[in-house]
Amino acid sequence: ASLLGRNTLRVAAQAERLIEVFDPTCLPQLLAQSGQAHGPIRVLGGGSNLLLSADVPGTVLKLCNEDVHWPDPNQEHAIVRAGAGLNWHALVMASLERGWQGLENLALIPGTVGAAPIQNIGAYGLEVGERIVAVEVYDRDTHQFRTLPTAACAFAYRDSLFKREPDRFVVVAVQFALHRHAALRTHYQGIADELRTTGVITPTARDVAEAVIRLRQRKLPDPALLPNAGSYFKNPMVDADTLADLKSREPDLVYWPSANGGAKLSAGWLIERASLKGARDGDAGIAPGHALVLVNFGQASGADLRRFAARVQATVKDRFGVHLEPEPVCWP
Ligand code: EPU
Repeated sequence: ASLLGRNTLRVAAQAERLIEVFDPTCLPQLLAQSGQAHGPIRVLGGGSNLLLSADVPGTVLKLCNEDVHWPDPNQEHAIVRAGAGLNWHALVMASLERGWQGLENLALIPGTVGAAPIQNIGAYGLEVGERIVAVEVYDRDTHQFRTLPTAACAFAYRDSLFKREPDRFVVVAVQFALHRHAALRTHYQGIADELRTTGVITPTARDVAEAVIRLRQRKLPDPALLPNAGSYFKNPMVDADTLADLKSREPDLVYWPSANGGAKLSAGWLIERASLKGARDGDAGIAPGHALVLVNFGQASGADLRRFAARVQATVKDRFGVHLEPEPVCWP
């Protein structure tokens, strides 16, 4: 089956077998059969954090369950449970329409509900792990459905238990703790600026979502027009010595201080400063508008994109001594 329309970098690759799963209760039987007969099994979400470096052997599963359990609206706090196959942004907007707040900072992130906990999606001052109460999975090691509470999910910056043990869990549904009136998170500079310039003084959750949508539309290329996988590199962490050294060499270095005296650097700033913003080699390159976004300008293969990303890593390492770690998952 072709994966061309199923990865937002629009790489032309084939899956040996692709199975759409509408009813997750079929998973035990399906996984037992597929595993014996057809080699490795991988789970695909929206394909928006995925680099396909070649054709994919074995079986690719796509969860298609989109059911949402909406709680009684007469409560202040509640748990919303959503199926893994649902589009992420659709859940954010549907929850706001029903008066449930908490996901607004994460509007317009591509992908599915099931993929959200895997890399712990985050933007504009919020990570999804902060809103998750439990992740419902099928555990392929123990052959059981399990409900993992947040504390068991090892959420960290763009990381989780699910990302660290990629062949073990199939996310089936996610439970979110949402609320009707709690405080909004508007401290991220971009949001604060956007609300101010649009004249919003006491923002609602919807105002925050709309500000985030405008920011993302302005800053990040639309994968439908310029295929990409969002931020291609994580923002790197450096220790205090490295930070001091970099600051002395680069007075306008962009960074966010961390508790140990070190900092999280802006990978976008490093790449832009290394003159790679908008650079390209054939059809693989860096977005002209945002240095952290690797893009496919046309017919780039996964290998072309990987080669270009390696060039970016080497250039940044050479110039700043900092290693950039890719964020997307790479198949096969
Ligand atoms: N910057 C540049 N040049 C660029 C881009 C950014 O110099 O081309 C510098 C600027 O100084 C800017 C700063 O980097 O002020 C931060 O930029 P931005 O607010 O766009 O955030 P980011 O660090 O590039 C991170 C996430 C995004 C998320 C935004 C907003 C990572 C790897 N990326 O990007 O997440 O949307 O913050 O919260 O953490 C994603 O993971 O796919 C993603 C898009």
